[in-house]
Amino acid sequence: MAVLHLSAPDPHQTLQVTPPAAGLALQGRLRIPGDKSISHRALMLGAIAEGETVIEGLLLGEDPRSTAQCFQQLGAKISDLNSERVVVQGIGLGNLQEPLDVLNAGNSGTTIRLMLGLLAAQPGKFFTVTGDDSLRSRPMSRVIKPLQSMGAQIWGRHQNSLAPLAVQGQALQPSHYTSPIASAQVKSCLLLAGLSIDGDTTVTEPALSRDHSERMLQAFGAKLTIDPEHHRVTIHGPAPLTGQTVVVPGDISSAAFWLVAASIVPGSELVIENVGINPTRTGVLEVLQQMGANISLENERLVTGEPVADLRVKASTLQGCTIGGAVIPRLIDEIPILAVAAAFAQGTTRIQDAAELRVKESDRLAVMASELGKLGAKITEFPDGLEIVGGQALVGADVDSFTDHRIAMSLAIAALGAKGTTRIHRAEAAAISYPEFVETLSHLCQA
Ligand code: S3P
Repeated sequence: MAVLHLSAPDPHQTLQVTPPAAGLALQGRLRIPGDKSISHRALMLGAIAEGETVIEGLLLGEDPRSTAQCFQQLGAKISDLNSERVVVQGIGLGNLQEPLDVLNAGNSGTTIRLMLGLLAAQPGKFFTVTGDDSLRSRPMSRVIKPLQSMGAQIWGRHQNSLAPLAVQGQALQPSHYTSPIASAQVKSCLLLAGLSIDGDTTVTEPALSRDHSERMLQAFGAKLTIDPEHHRVTIHGPAPLTGQTVVVPGDISSAAFWLVAASIVPGSELVIENVGINPTRTGVLEVLQQMGANISLENERLVTGEPVADLRVKASTLQGCTIGGAVIPRLIDEIPILAVAAAFAQGTTRIQDAAELRVKESDRLAVMASELGKLGAKITEFPDGLEIVGGQALVGADVDSFTDHRIAMSLAIAALGAKGTTRIHRAEAAAISYPEFVETLSHLCQA
């Protein structure tokens, strides 16, 4: 059973989860919401393109809503987000308007970092950008520094590294930036800046991060040169974009919760339909399969330039493993739920090279160690990862999401395998990327 309670008088909600009754398994077919990364990019490219963009399957989470609101303030016309087909009337890159008020990216790192690339390259226009408590504590220097080296003028708190930020748009210079981190947000920010630059903008990263920007920019008509061997991409600017139709696949990061849930609840079998399986995102499938998960891909197809499949998962006995190196950027958002899988696996799982998790919506290494620990998991925190000794019996407890959507949902799945009731405080965070999560969880637990 999964029940959401309002914890009045504060605006937060507590999710109460009890495991399915003995012998009851998770069964059926389900659809998951649209991919968050692709939804942001479809809204942004649609807004700066010439002509109309139609988006089908847009994620209606709070993060893409923040992107839509920012680009409406910048002058794009975006139809009702709740409809099946969202229509964006692009205004053309050079026509972004100077907004009358602060642009608020809410909780969304992708919104603020990608948008900064576009704003910094708008000569003569001034912008102010902020976000919620979490976003205002996340590092922005990773995009501000390379943008400054291209001539951008950006100011912020803490020596120009934290939002709120002020941007005085400039004509930027071509550049080649070698990023110390494999981050799609950094790469995409610079590629979006490169759209307005007369000449080449190149980004090299230490390992390949998700490539949705590259795919969608090309689909909208930009010229890119991609060198996969050296994790290098060049955009040849200036690159005017033309509106397109984008069909957003289901988000593999959301599917991951059900992949783990069905793996750990005995007797379960689920088919998760229409999941994006872009190879820069499928690290979670490879690691779960390595742990012994029974996952098969069905009905594989290509949908507007992105590979998609239905995922069938059956309960199985999981084994611990080591997760580190180049796979980390390919499963960066799935580490909290993989930590849950590890707690139910036999043997020890070591997650390493994942220090980036400390600067996500929460410090995900510290929070998973403390909250999964409260349920009885044997979990040790390291500067760059976690060690989990699986197979300890978990017992329901009071835990906190720390307002991080992926933590809230990971703890809810852990609760399915814990004895008794788990209360997840501030669980409303799930709506950032998965507004229907609680409904689907309740449905699966009662079916
Ligand atoms: C994202 C990139 C990743 C990921 C985030 C979405 C994107 O962040 O964690 O949820 O859409 O580009 P980093 O680029 O900071 O690794």
